[in-house]
Amino acid sequence: MSDRDGADRSITAEALRRDFGKLHAVDGVDLEVPGGQIFGFLGPNGAGKSTLVKILTTILNPTSGRASVGGYDVQRQGGKVREAIGVALQDVGLDPLMTARELLMLQTELFGTPRDEARKTAERLLVTVGLDDVDPKKRAGAYSGGMKRRLDLALALVHDPRILFLDEPTTGLDPASRAAIWEEVRRLNDDFGMTIFLTTQYLEEADRLADQIAIINKGTIVAQGTPEELKRQVGDEVVELQFGSSDDAERAQDALAPVAPNRQRSNRELRLYFGRAAENVPELVRVLDGAGISLQGLTIEQPSLDDVFLRVTGEALEHEVDEGADDVPAGAEVRS
Ligand SMILES: Nc1ncnc2c1ncn2[C@@H]1O[C@H](COP(=O)(O)OP(=O)(O)OP(=O)(O)O)[C@@H](O)[C@H]1O
Ligand SMILES: [Mg+2]
Repeated sequence: MSDRDGADRSITAEALRRDFGKLHAVDGVDLEVPGGQIFGFLGPNGAGKSTLVKILTTILNPTSGRASVGGYDVQRQGGKVREAIGVALQDVGLDPLMTARELLMLQTELFGTPRDEARKTAERLLVTVGLDDVDPKKRAGAYSGGMKRRLDLALALVHDPRILFLDEPTTGLDPASRAAIWEEVRRLNDDFGMTIFLTTQYLEEADRLADQIAIINKGTIVAQGTPEELKRQVGDEVVELQFGSSDDAERAQDALAPVAPNRQRSNRELRLYFGRAAENVPELVRVLDGAGISLQGLTIEQPSLDDVFLRVTGEALEHEVDEGADDVPAGAEVRS
């Protein structure tokens, strides 16, 4: 499990569980994240992502099971774990009255670094996260959401961690800020071999960044693998059919059952999964014709992580998806 300089950068979990009263927030999770990977942890609201991150970063104790981070047991060797990791939690907790430099220096000095060196570290990290141009007198409370996220990331890096935990680092950010964080995550991984454990609500983020992905739903991992492996599980190709109404789509879903056993409907669209899509199209059209259902559009695509997610959790993840709306243009509901 050791890599590069011989340091252990792995994360493992065995039958990890955390209950809150009767709720199994994390319900028997096994994980094996080799050192140097970017690991994407995906799941809908309340799936257990933050709870798992808190256990792995020693903030919460598990109810049962075991986990190790950087080769250290999270319960018995919490101090060692904390030395090895950097953490940016979902709720950014910055003192609003402090400037970025003050916060960074304070954090660096907390790790026992002398003042002069802490000052250098602060400057270096501000460059790293692209905040070096900000007015030095600006207080954290006046930062935008994206700037706060970046500052929080810088704070997680003050002691050169070899493993980094980021809990939804880009949720709510505009596309440019999101792209800046992605670039930074990739660079930390490339340049330092840092293991990065990142939770996200954005499938595109996991698809682009992660070497391996786990999808968690109701406390349990329901799919795991590389993005390519996961997509292959749903099929090699997708035929997407668009209808004039969700009613038509629903009727088509039933009518096509015998010829397309793997299918998912989202509002006015139906997605059918095949090994080879093109050769099935004539039959699909015949069946729809026979049932008197008119088709508005047909496209053949590669499966996306959305398809995987929809299949294993039974729901779409992206916030943009609005199941109830029937008046939005066809094709707008499911991103691909
Ligand atoms: N301290 C707590 N006390 C009681 N219940 C909790 C506590 N923390 C989390 N939960 C519950 O555990 C479940 C998992 O929550 P968690 O925060 O881990 O989900 P999540 O996947 O991070 O969700 P989100 O995407 O919304 O951040 C939820 O049902 C939540 O209400
Ligand atoms: Mg969370």
